[in-house]
Amino acid sequence: MSGQQGQVEVRAVSEGERLAWLRSVARTFLDPAVITEEGLRHRSPSWEGHRLTGAFDGDRVVGTYRSWDAPLPVPGGAGHGVLADHVSAVTVAPTHRRRGLLTRMITADLRAARERGVPLAYLVAGEAPIYGRFGFGAAVGTQSLQVRAPAPLQHVPAGAEDVVVELVEDADLRPEAPALHASVAAGSPGAVARTQRWWDVALGLDPAPGEDTKQRRTALLARDAAGAAVGVARYRAQEQWAGMRHDSTVEVTDLFAATPAAQAALWQHLVSMDVVDTVRLTDRPLDDPLPELLHDRRRALPAEASDQFWARLLDVPAALAARGWLGPPGACVLEVHDALGLAGGRWRLELAGGRVEASATADEPDVTCDVGALSAAYLGQTPLVALAAAGRVRGEAPAVAQLSAQLAWQPTTWPSHTGF
Ligand SMILES: CC(C)(COP(=O)(O)OP(=O)(O)OC[C@H]1O[C@@H](n2cnc3c(N)ncnc32)[C@H](O)[C@@H]1OP(=O)(O)O)[C@@H](O)C(=O)NCCC(=O)NCCS
Repeated sequence: MSGQQGQVEVRAVSEGERLAWLRSVARTFLDPAVITEEGLRHRSPSWEGHRLTGAFDGDRVVGTYRSWDAPLPVPGGAGHGVLADHVSAVTVAPTHRRRGLLTRMITADLRAARERGVPLAYLVAGEAPIYGRFGFGAAVGTQSLQVRAPAPLQHVPAGAEDVVVELVEDADLRPEAPALHASVAAGSPGAVARTQRWWDVALGLDPAPGEDTKQRRTALLARDAAGAAVGVARYRAQEQWAGMRHDSTVEVTDLFAATPAAQAALWQHLVSMDVVDTVRLTDRPLDDPLPELLHDRRRALPAEASDQFWARLLDVPAALAARGWLGPPGACVLEVHDALGLAGGRWRLELAGGRVEASATADEPDVTCDVGALSAAYLGQTPLVALAAAGRVRGEAPAVAQLSAQLAWQPTTWPSHTGF
């Protein structure tokens, strides 16, 4: 075993250390690809403005961490994003695990974000037990849906008949899809922004070295009666035959739309194609309305559901003030504990007119929880009452129920993991 505790240095990664850093990320994530200089050159533009941290044992990279500030949509619709410290590429080499290296990297990053005035941190958790101890809570879940096709729709939202679905090539999406995604994501709490660079890579306009570009994806572009782009879907088809019967699958990796009508039109197209027996949709919101539209809702069954995005409040009053609130008006005293000493405190919350004001108070708390529980509920999806039932939120039932109803946010989300 190499590297003694205390000898490992955690610091920013220099330009010349990036290749070793990226190789370390790939190795720990069990990525078999050989990372070349060319691969690094392709990847680097995606890190524009990002903070790359490494843990160095001598000149060897034994830990990696990347973070960047970007607005994250929160409940309240378009225009109510907060600046969030996005975290990714978290690894510690198997030779150096469980010696506190992640703890050193993440606590330094969260502290620095707090000092910059960033009210929230956000990440995708590779494993559920990792981040709770650092004050994160599971905030947004996703599911895969498996549809036995064909699956006729019974309830179609008004206007779907005016939507025209075009079959296009991936590259044809480039002019219109980014702006459409940005406007849909802005109204979807927890949806991660996609950069222009993300689109170039995802649509195969700037493929990674060695990337198999022969695997064709098909794209759908939905337009409204005026010709404006209102929906996008991208899928990969796997043709398969068993004897003289087709048994083919369409895997939908991306689907978003500006209106329920456009979304229904895309689904109608996808679940009624000839020679398609299974349609699999990944990264769908947990309350995806697709089953509700079908004549037989059991043709769309959840194949897999899990927590995906974890949030961590760094400034409770600022984060609460930044989101919109649909819940019943009312006041309560909330006490938040934070073992890292970043976001704890006691505040009187007053909800009126769709906004909350938090003012510090010494009054007895009505509701008490740790920062991870409040962070889990912050984006409106995880009910505070469920966390209370697990003993993670304390208080008289009416006070907890009121705050839970206030934090809840209903419109479905279209999170986009791939923005990371
Ligand atoms: C997850 C990972 C970064 C942890 O790094 P690390 O340096 O070993 O973590 P630390 O030593 O700082 O651990 C801090 C605490 O978290 C616990 N912990 C860390 N990773 C854990 C895991 N995967 N499951 C359960 N507990 C974990 C440790 O046991 C330790 O607890 P303790 O203080 O009670 O002893 C590292 O194991 C790794 O790279 N794993 C593979 C890649 C991965 O999953 N990355 C995260 C992607 S989101």
